[in-house]
Amino acid sequence: MTAVDRAREAFAAAFGGPLEGVWAAPGRVNVIGEHTDYNDGFVLPVALPQTTRAAVARRDDGLVALVSAQHPGDRVEVPVAELAPGRPGGWAGYPAGVVDALRDRVPGGVSVLVDGDVPAGMGLSSSAALSCSVALALRDLAAPDLAVADLVDVARRAENDFVGAPTGILDQSASLLCTAGHALFLDTRDRSTEQVPLDLRAAGLELLVVDTGTTHDHATGGYGDRRRECEQAAERLGVRALRDVPDVAALAPLDDGTPEGGVLLRRARHIVTENARVLEVVRILRGTADPGAIGPMLTAGHASLRDDFQISTVELDTAVATALEAGAAGARMVGGGFGGSAVVLVDADRTDDVARAITDRFAQQGFTPPRAFAVVPSAGARRLA
Ligand code: GLA
Repeated sequence: MTAVDRAREAFAAAFGGPLEGVWAAPGRVNVIGEHTDYNDGFVLPVALPQTTRAAVARRDDGLVALVSAQHPGDRVEVPVAELAPGRPGGWAGYPAGVVDALRDRVPGGVSVLVDGDVPAGMGLSSSAALSCSVALALRDLAAPDLAVADLVDVARRAENDFVGAPTGILDQSASLLCTAGHALFLDTRDRSTEQVPLDLRAAGLELLVVDTGTTHDHATGGYGDRRRECEQAAERLGVRALRDVPDVAALAPLDDGTPEGGVLLRRARHIVTENARVLEVVRILRGTADPGAIGPMLTAGHASLRDDFQISTVELDTAVATALEAGAAGARMVGGGFGGSAVVLVDADRTDDVARAITDRFAQQGFTPPRAFAVVPSAGARRLA
């Protein structure tokens, strides 16, 4: 049975009435450019083959009705007029936040069945896949004047204002704007984009995602702390955002001898060097047939996230170190940090060795068994039916 048939069937079982269409939006893995998005910087994600599908129909009774194949029995029904941040919460907050952001367009309400295979809590943006699939559906059905790029902010508002996670626009942009066979080079300040060809298979390479089995939650804790520290550093330096710091030397004023100044220096140094790494990776990819040449940049990005931004975990560090020992071209943790996945760039004929080495090392260390799978740069959000 195809994904569309499954969504159709589940929609019929949940809502009975006629369906208006089925949409899909992917998760993402970021090649490089971590935590730069809320600093007006650069990112370079690819879309995953895994997607969330949304089967949608408008209603006329003013209700938002939400059902998820991943949360059976958890049917949510709320009047559009009563949507408010945190109500509903949990998984339903993402689609509900999108409906809230477009509530003038769907006053009669909407029925949404979601079904997806983007692993949740792995740092692969299952939440953006969920919100972007619904955003594209509502655009096509009820807001044709909006461009797909406008939906980035619709989905971001759902996540920031409704769910309460203070993220940037990396995940939503990747899910909506990526194209197959390319990485999306995005300037998060002016929103300009470039589709950078990334044909890993032709180069005999694979991008291996390694789930460490440890989860994260960006609505609480460390993610928001990092964001605040970056804003403080920018303020002390007198710049609009850390994007505007030209080089590491310009960070010297942060180093005022206090522990706090030392922390801000580290955070800012990650952002400045990470932006430079994105530009360097894009330069390499534009100019070479060998994407393996970007490997050392990925590994340097990991060191910076571990030592300066301090958001890695012992599991992520172990996965990265083991991958490199087993012959990977480069490896780094991905996403918001404090758990989730690492990504490994590796010669296709070494993928199995690398995956096995990581599995063995995790077993020796007594960690949760990791899960590894190869991904190819895939298409962004689209209508399936
Ligand atoms: C999470 C956020 C993104 C971005 C990354 C880190 O995925 O949702 O906006 O900040 O972390 O690069």
